[in-house]
Amino acid sequence: MGLEVKIKPRDLPDMRKACRLAADTLEMISEYIRPGITTDEINTIVHEYTTKHKARPAPLNYGATRHRKGFPKSVCTSVNEVVCHGIPGPYLLKDGDIINVDVTSVFPAKKGYYGDTSATFYVGTPSAIAIHVVEVCREALEIGIAQVRPGNRTGDIGFAIQRFVESKGCSIVREYTGHGIGRVFHGPPSITHYGVPGRGAILRPGMTFTIEPMINLIGPEIEHLDDEWTVVTRDGSLSAQFEHTITVTKTGCEVLTARERTLKNSEDRQYSKVFPLSCYMPK
Ligand code: MF3
Ligand code: CO
Ligand code: CO
Repeated sequence: MGLEVKIKPRDLPDMRKACRLAADTLEMISEYIRPGITTDEINTIVHEYTTKHKARPAPLNYGATRHRKGFPKSVCTSVNEVVCHGIPGPYLLKDGDIINVDVTSVFPAKKGYYGDTSATFYVGTPSAIAIHVVEVCREALEIGIAQVRPGNRTGDIGFAIQRFVESKGCSIVREYTGHGIGRVFHGPPSITHYGVPGRGAILRPGMTFTIEPMINLIGPEIEHLDDEWTVVTRDGSLSAQFEHTITVTKTGCEVLTARERTLKNSEDRQYSKVFPLSCYMPK
């Protein structure tokens, strides 16, 4: 109630810049996704691109508490059964893998705005099951975005996503949600990727949040690895994720992390049946 993250009209240009940089970073890194690259190399390229643009990679040291170390790298790389928060390392991508790269940029680096976006990429030639889970997830995000307008509620977004994903035989991770975003990384409201129509926070112009469904091929259950960050599917089945940062406008929404071009190794595939709404830069 009124606690949600809002971006005032005068702050929107700065928020747009941060989000545009995150989108550009994802577009840039898509060109490097191929068999033989390590996730650490992806991390280095993202880190250097971010700092070169006078921004800060939000994941680095994120979430440090007395009991837990912060995230050790500048980007999340989640391969195959990894649901989210995969830590870049020596792993070599191989033909047939899928990988989600989740970029969060803070611009300007000090006291800036957060832009948060991710996509799942095909490494080499994908299997039929990989195409299924990735394309269902891609479409789920677009279906969620289509519900964002003043007067609708967060439950309308979640319901639309849930109905679609479950009709395709996939499952939705419940432990992680979209989130309010602006001068904070994670704020209210929570955007669940399941829900009941007409329930949840009412969407109002200026509200700014992410939608980021994590979709598993088989069961929804997750586990955490001993590194305290990596989230995996309990049954070991594939998981995909796509994420955009969105602001509610008077008439609908603006996808702040929309891309100017399609992503190599993801949206340029023949397998992508849906042409993403979010490829269009809103005017
Ligand atoms: N980018 C993630 C999100 O969408 C959060 C990553 S936190 C990290 O909310 F510490 F794992 F990087
Ligand atoms: Co997010
Ligand atoms: Co993210």
